[in-house]
Amino acid sequence: HRHLLGIEHLSQSDITAILDLAEKYVDMNRQSTKHSDVLSGLTQINMFFENSTRTQASFEIAGKRLGADVMNMAMQASSIKKGETLIDTAMTLNAMHPDLLVVRHPHSGAVDLLAQKVNCAVLNAGDGKHEHPTQALLDALTIRRAKGRLHRLNIAICGDVAHSRVARSNLILLGKMENRIRLIGPPTLVPNQFAEFGAEIYDDMNEGLKDVDVVMMLRLQKERMDGGFIPSEREYYHRYGLDAAKLSQAKPDAIVMHPGPMNRGVEIDGTLADDINRSVIQEQVEMGVAVRMAAMELLARNLREAA
Ligand code: CP
Repeated sequence: HRHLLGIEHLSQSDITAILDLAEKYVDMNRQSTKHSDVLSGLTQINMFFENSTRTQASFEIAGKRLGADVMNMAMQASSIKKGETLIDTAMTLNAMHPDLLVVRHPHSGAVDLLAQKVNCAVLNAGDGKHEHPTQALLDALTIRRAKGRLHRLNIAICGDVAHSRVARSNLILLGKMENRIRLIGPPTLVPNQFAEFGAEIYDDMNEGLKDVDVVMMLRLQKERMDGGFIPSEREYYHRYGLDAAKLSQAKPDAIVMHPGPMNRGVEIDGTLADDINRSVIQEQVEMGVAVRMAAMELLARNLREAA
């Protein structure tokens, strides 16, 4: 592959190859000296047109640990504010010969469009409600390490599925790896069309969480609700927020995940999110660096082979 635009383009063996390589970087990242020169001589530009903590920081750390020259574009201070378009901005940076372009954009499809215009490898760091492939890969690595496998698991994805690129990429990845997926949430946030992904749909947390191995919570994506119905946070927490009582329906060793940023007391109880016996939220962040290192190494290999 030349780019990493979405999980939909990856095969089972592509996914396994990225996760296997990422394991090496999990070990490296836990050592006091964490440096390799896999990306030495390459230039990585990070362009985030939407806010980010985890994805932006981990792509930057990943590039630096692999020896790339990493540049973060401060999009708020860029000429986008003067009316320059996304494509003109990308072409301007393209003329500086970057090798890896990491892009987050609020519009679904914007990153695919940009990838058609530039000469370098493009990594999608989240586009609208379309895909967030490195998030699904880091979630997959977290699940595989916690459960010892990434197939034939019962996995519940709960909350605002409709507006979530995290849910979409996870549905595709976990489906490709032959897991049973349940989507749980109010019909406004989990429309029936998501059954097309092969998932079972539930409106009731206690029913949907029965005997699951993995509980993945999602944030209410108010920024993507376009003035539509926004549920009251109190009522939402009562019905769909994950707490110890609802989690007791899942398997006793079920893990709790959240991609972050999380809203404590809205989609998840804060004490449960901090419970290191159940919550793998911090592991997800750790896996994020390793998976991004692996994805960039594989794309760089292709770049060098094509040169
Ligand atoms: N999970 C995730 O994409 O978080 P950020 O928006 O902080 O990058």
